Amino acid sequence: MSFSNDFIWGASASSYQIEGGAYEDGKGLSVWDMLCKSPGKIWEGDTGDVACDHCHRYEEDARLMCEIGLQAYRLSISWPRVLPNGIGEVNEKGLAFYDRLIDALLQNNVQPWVTLFHWDYPYALHCRGGWLNRDSADWFAEYTQVIIDKLSDRVAHWITQNEPQCYIGFGHQTGEHAPGLKLGFAEVLLAAHHSLLAHGKSVQVIRARAKIKPIIGAAPVGIAKIPASNQSEDINAARAATFAISGKNCWSNTWFADPMIFGKYPEDGLKLFSKEMPEIRAGDMATICQPLDFYGVNIYFDETVRAHSDGGYEVVKKPIGPALTTMPWEVTPEALYWGPKFLFERYQLPIVVTENGMANCDWIHLDGKVHDPQRIDFLTRYLRAYQRAIAGGVMAKGYFVWSVLDNFEWGHGYKQRLGLIYVDYATQQRMLKDSAHWYRKVIAANGAI
Ligand code: FCB
Repeated sequence: MSFSNDFIWGASASSYQIEGGAYEDGKGLSVWDMLCKSPGKIWEGDTGDVACDHCHRYEEDARLMCEIGLQAYRLSISWPRVLPNGIGEVNEKGLAFYDRLIDALLQNNVQPWVTLFHWDYPYALHCRGGWLNRDSADWFAEYTQVIIDKLSDRVAHWITQNEPQCYIGFGHQTGEHAPGLKLGFAEVLLAAHHSLLAHGKSVQVIRARAKIKPIIGAAPVGIAKIPASNQSEDINAARAATFAISGKNCWSNTWFADPMIFGKYPEDGLKLFSKEMPEIRAGDMATICQPLDFYGVNIYFDETVRAHSDGGYEVVKKPIGPALTTMPWEVTPEALYWGPKFLFERYQLPIVVTENGMANCDWIHLDGKVHDPQRIDFLTRYLRAYQRAIAGGVMAKGYFVWSVLDNFEWGHGYKQRLGLIYVDYATQQRMLKDSAHWYRKVIAANGAI
């Protein structure tokens, strides 16, 4: 068994990371616009003010996607570009941009997969409490409605939110991401609860109003622990670690996915967080738990664990001199075997890998091309692991490389290049890297690599 005939090959990006036009055409401020103004927060003081200038170059970008043969492009919408105050008055120019972008993609035979929220939260709503305000769920539902009413005649695939683990965890607990808060854990859990409610209400709006039948998922971080051996004790240990809540932080699959899919928070978390748990009102869990069509998941790397003699598990120390990307994240292809396998077993939803890729030291070589053999090798290894998971019975519907273009990598600024397409930020010229040419062949062969 291999990738199914209707398997979708795509690549992803997000609004703040590529669009630019941060102060144009009536766009409101986002929390990332504000974080980028804080000295010391972003590498070299980089900002997303211009980024890849995608808001002016989207037609060229759509053509390049077509050249790569992408069947789908996962984009996100800048909430404050469309609703400068987060709610209320719509910025028609902002909405018109996405309208044109969707048309340009469709003209190039690229299916748009739209993520409603990929971290650029409206600053105006942040000033009203942001995710700490219970009304944030209704704000997100209102925003969802504006987008659905405009785009759902052409867009079928919807992702509510990207990686709550990061925008809540890094954004509200450790502070390195926008809005840069370092809250106590009780408030972190409160923000997380409201963002889950927002997810649920958003799904309800999509189902109620979409003009063509919607296909809906979310794109959380995929925690994908790798067993140290194929012995059942180690596999069970890895499974347990994949679904465990191991500390007062946001790094788990279950804290976010269990409420969305099972309608309840996981027991181990409820126990560990008993003192910090927010009020859960009647009906909240039912609102959060809406039927989903796929489990989107972003997987890059993970740890190896083995069974411990006390019946639990322990993390295996990294090898000396590990293979590292420039992030530096470890190269662990097996995460794309075990992650989809464990997540499919538990949640029984078709898997879509909504992000996978690597940061590499890419530059234009003397022959005028960008050679990135590491990325080709990396993606090959991960895809083979994914393919093995599918052959083993995991139902999987798609795979998206992060990212289509080099872009603004959050706190790392422009230091990290993850694109299939190289961007010269001084001239905004784009160039397909070797990996883009390689990916075209992968897509044409439906993953027979
Ligand atoms: C993920 C984010 C994405 C990108 C990649 C490298 O956590 O969703 O925007 O930054 O990491």
